[in-house]
Amino acid sequence: MNNNPIGVYDSGFGGLSVWRELHRALPRESLIYLGDGKNCPYGNKTEEQIRELAERAVGDLVERGCKMVVVACNTATAAAIEYLRERFSHLPIVGLEPAVKPACAMTRSKVVGVIATERSLVGRKFLSTLERYGEGVEVLKVVGEGFVEAVEADAEQEPRTEELVRRVVEPIIERGADVIVLGCTHYPFLGDVIRRVVGDREVAVIDSGEAVEKRVESLLDKFSLRCAEDNVPRLEFLSYADEEYRARLEHKALR
Ligand code: DGL
Repeated sequence: MNNNPIGVYDSGFGGLSVWRELHRALPRESLIYLGDGKNCPYGNKTEEQIRELAERAVGDLVERGCKMVVVACNTATAAAIEYLRERFSHLPIVGLEPAVKPACAMTRSKVVGVIATERSLVGRKFLSTLERYGEGVEVLKVVGEGFVEAVEADAEQEPRTEELVRRVVEPIIERGADVIVLGCTHYPFLGDVIRRVVGDREVAVIDSGEAVEKRVESLLDKFSLRCAEDNVPRLEFLSYADEEYRARLEHKALR
């Protein structure tokens, strides 16, 4: 048993989509959310830059006593997860990957669209997952141009965001995809807009939130890290940006 917090880290607001799953399934666990904010977006940074940023962030969460860290960012996972696991080898570090495996198992049209950041789509792990599970499936790799910025600006409901989403999603459907993978933790915040663009066409939209939550639970059990049943959870929100940004993180999580 361990009442220390679980750390959840992302470049900004995106990891809150994972935070929500964790808080819903594990309401007694204390959580510290660290949304960098100052260096967001990560998507077009180099691997070295992201590794440095991720090392600092995970280091800060470890210093605050986290018993586990969830890198709730596909981009940071692609660039740095092995490095982080070596560097902080005394605690479990969970990464996030686009849900390519379930998508390839699910598709009937044999065309799948993966929307993610530039860095995630060239990651070694992602490409090897494609090789392993994508046989016989055409996987369309598409950058969600402007998606992260829209979520960071709280602009999910604005008409210009729907236009942005339409420009990315429509060609994927036109090419025959019946599954669209949201390969960036910011994108589930655009879920309503994406579903509106999909309309009544038979296209499944999936993300990795639930799978990550299950993985966290299995690691909590494996290492006997679950908190006590009467634990009074602490929910903390941190950022390297200013106080206004930090407060927006908290608001977005709890509303
Ligand atoms: N939320 C992130 C991801 O899952 C990173 C987005 C960004 O900073 O570009 O990839």
